[in-house]
Amino acid sequence: MKSTAVMFEEDPILLCLVIAILLATILAKTYSSRSNAQRDVSPDPSPSTTQLSAGKRNPGQWIPMDVKASDPPPYPDWDVKTTKPLPYRPFKYGPTYFVTMGLRKGNLDDWIELDNEYLKFHTVKKERIESRGDRLCKTAPEALDAAIELLEMLCDYLPKRYPSMFTKTSVGIDNIVTNEAFNIVRRPLAEEPMKTIGRLIQDDVAIMVEGSDGQSYLKSGSIILPGFWKLEEKFNMNLSEIHTSGDVPQFREKLEKGMVNFFKRVMPGDMVIRHNYFMQVDDGLAWSHSIGPEDSPHAGWFTAEKDKVVENHWFRSERQTLRRLPRSGGVAFTIRTYFHPVTEVAKEPYVPGRLASAIRSWGDDVAKYKGSEKYKYILLEFLDRENQKQIDSGLIAEGGESHLKYPY
Ligand code: HEM
Repeated sequence: MKSTAVMFEEDPILLCLVIAILLATILAKTYSSRSNAQRDVSPDPSPSTTQLSAGKRNPGQWIPMDVKASDPPPYPDWDVKTTKPLPYRPFKYGPTYFVTMGLRKGNLDDWIELDNEYLKFHTVKKERIESRGDRLCKTAPEALDAAIELLEMLCDYLPKRYPSMFTKTSVGIDNIVTNEAFNIVRRPLAEEPMKTIGRLIQDDVAIMVEGSDGQSYLKSGSIILPGFWKLEEKFNMNLSEIHTSGDVPQFREKLEKGMVNFFKRVMPGDMVIRHNYFMQVDDGLAWSHSIGPEDSPHAGWFTAEKDKVVENHWFRSERQTLRRLPRSGGVAFTIRTYFHPVTEVAKEPYVPGRLASAIRSWGDDVAKYKGSEKYKYILLEFLDRENQKQIDSGLIAEGGESHLKYPY
């Protein structure tokens, strides 16, 4: 009989096979003892890293999750004086305008965008928090944990993303540009948490909380620069009530089902972005006063003056993000407004032609919602003229901007 050593010498493949089997046995043992050890040392499974899928959890139920996004890198070369607002121009050529949810996958690193309009926004927000803050920022008791969680997440995110403006402290966050210090650990808090959130970022924010009927309700908000709607009018409403009370075109047919499903299913770690755009016939960043005074219960496009000079036309575009807060289960909805005179925006290559085409593509319902009756004659005439100038000067080639990707 041959010895084992001789067998392996004669057949190296057999040797490799035996080594592989030995290694596999050792690895399997190590893995199984590790996973047993993990089970043993954490008898209390919450906060969990897993969640019952939407169909399996009871409506309104949320198991706190221990999920933390990875640290965002600093925004490249960010400077409060020189970083320009990103030029979102989220309108598409006609001939047809489609109402869709328009959600796109986003990256958590890009959650909050700040730029050189920060101080302007901050001044307007500060003044409005002082004069009418209790109407613009509020939180229902059942959403307080979500509002505090959101504040904590911002205190973690902002110093990493914008280190030249924010510093994390042992009690919260300092804004070293505006010289503000925020203590978010003392109780009671120095102020309503959504006011603090309003002071920290350029965005407005809403928090939706799922009720025991499975619907998502607006339970907390920092809605300081909304332009056309008021937190106090929509507070406590569910998604469908929020949108139908505002006559959002084709809501029932095109948006409701997808939106309700999205809110049930969105998980921490996901982020989606959507963009929209409006025209305004005034320069009100916080409130579009041409549709009536902010405190009027009957504000609407019908009160606006028609055909103002084009210099009074402003382009408002919102960048909205949605993400689930892992601990509370609330869904944070951020709304960042970009606001510029149309005369400025129309200097950009292709923009006047594309905007004119988009406005012409609105159906009657969208046109009514966006108030186009009040400005379309003046605006379209202006945009057509600017478009022609761009063609005549050779700045653009007719019909050729395929290199630009939505939402630019
Ligand atoms: C999947 C998420 C959502 C989608 C797809 C969506 C879609 C829309 C659309 C299409 C409009 C018409 C104007 C525009 O184009 O933006 C609108 C308006 C509006 N949305 Fe949403 N929305 C969503 C989430 C929310 C949430 C979470 C809130 C909570 C505050 C909200 C509040 C509003 C308000 C207040 C208006 C204006 C309504 C009015 O004119 O009175 N939306 N939304």
